[in-house]
Amino acid sequence: MFLPLIMRIDILTVLPKLLDGPFSASILKRAQDKGLVEIRLHNIRDYSTDKHKNVDDYQYGGGAGMVMSIEPIVTLIEKLKKERTYDEIIFMTPDGAILEQKTCNDLSLTKNLIILCGHYKGIDERIREHFITREISIGSYVLSGGELAAAILTDAIIRLLPGVLNNETSALTDSFQDNLLSPPVYTRPPEYRGWKVPDILLSGNFPEIEKWREQKALERTEKRRPDLLDN
Ligand code: ADE
Repeated sequence: MFLPLIMRIDILTVLPKLLDGPFSASILKRAQDKGLVEIRLHNIRDYSTDKHKNVDDYQYGGGAGMVMSIEPIVTLIEKLKKERTYDEIIFMTPDGAILEQKTCNDLSLTKNLIILCGHYKGIDERIREHFITREISIGSYVLSGGELAAAILTDAIIRLLPGVLNNETSALTDSFQDNLLSPPVYTRPPEYRGWKVPDILLSGNFPEIEKWREQKALERTEKRRPDLLDN
C-alpha cells in the first residue's frame, strides 16, 4: 500500500547527537522508513557567524547563565520558512504549557513543524516574541536542554499518524484519549505462582469484557488521576 508523506518535523538544536538515538529505533525509525514522516535535525551552530561558532552570550543586565543568541536561530528559521510553510514553530521550555494528549492530537493533524530546543539560561526573548507560535513544557522540572523534551513530543505526535502503528486502533485506546487511564492487561500464562488472570478475560464474552474494561479504567482513573475526571 502506498502511504504518502504525512508530516515533516525540523528540529533545531545545538546537540543533534542527543537526538540521533531516539529517532533511529523502533516506531519512530519505522515511521521514517515507511516515508510517513521526515525528521530533520539542524545544528544551530552551523548558522553562527561568530569566528568561534559560539551560539550563546552573556545576558544583558548581568546574572548567571548564558543566553542563546538571536542571530543563528533566526537565520535558520528564516531559511526553513523560505522552503515551506510551517503550521507551528514550537519552543521546548520549562515555562511553556504542560504537554497533554490533546496537544499531541492537534499537532498530529499538522503538516510542517519546527521544534526549537533551548539550552543554557534560555533564548533571547525576541525569538519568542517574533517567531515562536507555541511553547511547550513536558513537566514541572528542568532538564539540561530541550532535546529530550523534543524527542518526547515528537514520539507522542508521530505514533498518532495513520499507518505508523500496525494496529490503527491502538493509539485510540491509549490512556488519556478519552480522559481515562487504560485498564489492566494480561497475557499468558493464565495462572502464574497462583496469581490468576481475571476469569472474565478468559470468558470469550466480548460485550462483558468491554464492560469490565470500562469499569476498571474508571476505577483506576478515580484512584490515580481524579483530576482527569473533572474535565
Ligand atoms: N527544557 C528544559 N526543561 C524542559 C521541560 N521541562 N520541558 C520542555 N523543555 C525543557
